[in-house]
Amino acid sequence: MIHLENIQRRYVSDEVETTALADIDLHVEAGEFVAIMGPSGCGKSTLLNTLGTVDRPTGGKYLFDDRDLAALDEKALAQFRGATLGFVFQSFNLIDELTIEENVALGLAYRKDDGGKKSGAGKGIGDRRARVAAAMDKVGIAHRARHYPHQLSGGQQQRAAIARAIVGAPKLILADEPTGNLDTANGEQVMNILAGLNDEGATIIMVTHSPSHADMAKRRIDMLDGRIVASAARAL
Ligand SMILES: Nc1ncnc2c1ncn2[C@@H]1O[C@H](COP(=O)(O)OP(=O)(O)OP(=O)(O)O)[C@@H](O)[C@H]1O
Ligand SMILES: [Mg+2]
Repeated sequence: MIHLENIQRRYVSDEVETTALADIDLHVEAGEFVAIMGPSGCGKSTLLNTLGTVDRPTGGKYLFDDRDLAALDEKALAQFRGATLGFVFQSFNLIDELTIEENVALGLAYRKDDGGKKSGAGKGIGDRRARVAAAMDKVGIAHRARHYPHQLSGGQQQRAAIARAIVGAPKLILADEPTGNLDTANGEQVMNILAGLNDEGATIIMVTHSPSHADMAKRRIDMLDGRIVASAARAL
């Protein structure tokens, strides 16, 4: 699914150059669950954002299902993200003015196959509702559908964010420290949801500082100073 070759990301500001990613080679197959670890500032988020096409590498090659993403313009990239990727962030990133179900429905906003164009607008909307309901159900927040984010606990908010990420049935879920703002119990609940999604076939790449959460992935990648220094499958 993912093929990164010699990916580079350099920042230049005030003539100071920072190398956030250097010589990154990475292959990820469909169905994998990969954890990325490493000290603060080593490039984990930059790598995840590069995979998510919200950050453009300054060098190298990124193929997704054999498609060269460097060839896409911003509009095509936005479409690619909407149809293919689901994002989960440390700080949940829900929209405070929208209810939980409206937030989850945002995960369908960019999907082409969902406007009811072929089957009439009514059916399209019904299909959206059913998808949103199913996603909320899956993460156990259906009973909070009409609530607003600030009325939910951190764990519930993160589960809503996961529902938003999965509602469009993405090929790849990218999670940047999804348990970073949660207590142990809620963190474990979120990890169990991610592991369950992977068991059902979802491909997941997750940044974490927690060794025990990394152990729930099937492969662990260690980074240091913008480089991948180790990649190992979990011992079974
Ligand atoms: N916009 C930017 N301008 C300049 N340098 C940046 C920018 N964004 C990130 N960097 C630098 O790139 C490097 C990698 O940052 P990144 O956010 O990927 O680290 P990280 O591994 O995710 O760290 P953390 O664990 O603290 O989240 C850091 O040295 C950082 O200072
Ligand atoms: Mg980070």
